[in-house]
Amino acid sequence: RAPLSLPKLREMAQRGERIAVLTAYDATFARCMDDAGVDCILVGDSLGNVVQGEKSTLPVTLEHMAYHTRCVAQGRRAAWLVSDLPFGSYEASPRQAFDSAVALMQAGAQMVKLEGGGVTADTVRFLVERGIPVCAHLGLTPQRVHALGGFRVQGRDEAAAAQLKADAAALAEAGAAMVVLELVPSGLAREITLAHPGMLTIGIGAGAGTAGQVLVMHDMLGLTTGRRPRFVRDFTREPGSEPQAPGLSVAQAFARYAADVKAGCFPDEALHGY
Ligand code: KIV
Ligand code: NA
Repeated sequence: RAPLSLPKLREMAQRGERIAVLTAYDATFARCMDDAGVDCILVGDSLGNVVQGEKSTLPVTLEHMAYHTRCVAQGRRAAWLVSDLPFGSYEASPRQAFDSAVALMQAGAQMVKLEGGGVTADTVRFLVERGIPVCAHLGLTPQRVHALGGFRVQGRDEAAAAQLKADAAALAEAGAAMVVLELVPSGLAREITLAHPGMLTIGIGAGAGTAGQVLVMHDMLGLTTGRRPRFVRDFTREPGSEPQAPGLSVAQAFARYAADVKAGCFPDEALHGY
């Protein structure tokens, strides 16, 4: 498989081929999902939850992210590699964001992701003008969980939807090449996707109308305990199979995810959308 690049990802979107994204935090899982056909690997700050056992992403540091980015970069072959700027590493100024982004790029990232709406547009522009591709992140932004008051769907009422659309427009204008839309009503996510063809939309709990999909690896392997969010599917199980039926291997689950995203079978609007 030839390595993915931004122009190739854009071509895929233009052809209507959906982009399959998963999170990874180490070399072995990164290699496994890359070999299974996943297009893009995100070293998410969900690291805090699924690797470090923290209750939120707030304790994750730039050093942690750089370490895990390096681990994933060792296992990656063809997938496009995105790494999260953690809480506190980019909000103060474009200069602070640039210094933090450099640490992640030097660890092997090809693109950095940062959370927030129009207020981050100046920072996005600053990074893009200096050769650092940027993925934005709108809707439910977990680094702001305390300000948002919990993990719930964003952009539900008219004013919130208008704000989200304005944020998306500002980020596209600033040069964000990709945007994660998390916990956003399906119709709104589809609208944002169509409005900004130059900014690839990657949905999580945002319906089937985005350019791509992302899930946290541990969630889609059925390893996460506690309440499972509506948008998660356990890809180690055949849909509708008996609980005692043998499950799929990790490699098979990754391949199934990539195939189902591309075939448009995941997400299923009725089961996983809002
Ligand atoms: O940290 C993460 O895993 C993420 C994805 C859920 C988009 O930001
Ligand atoms: Na994240």
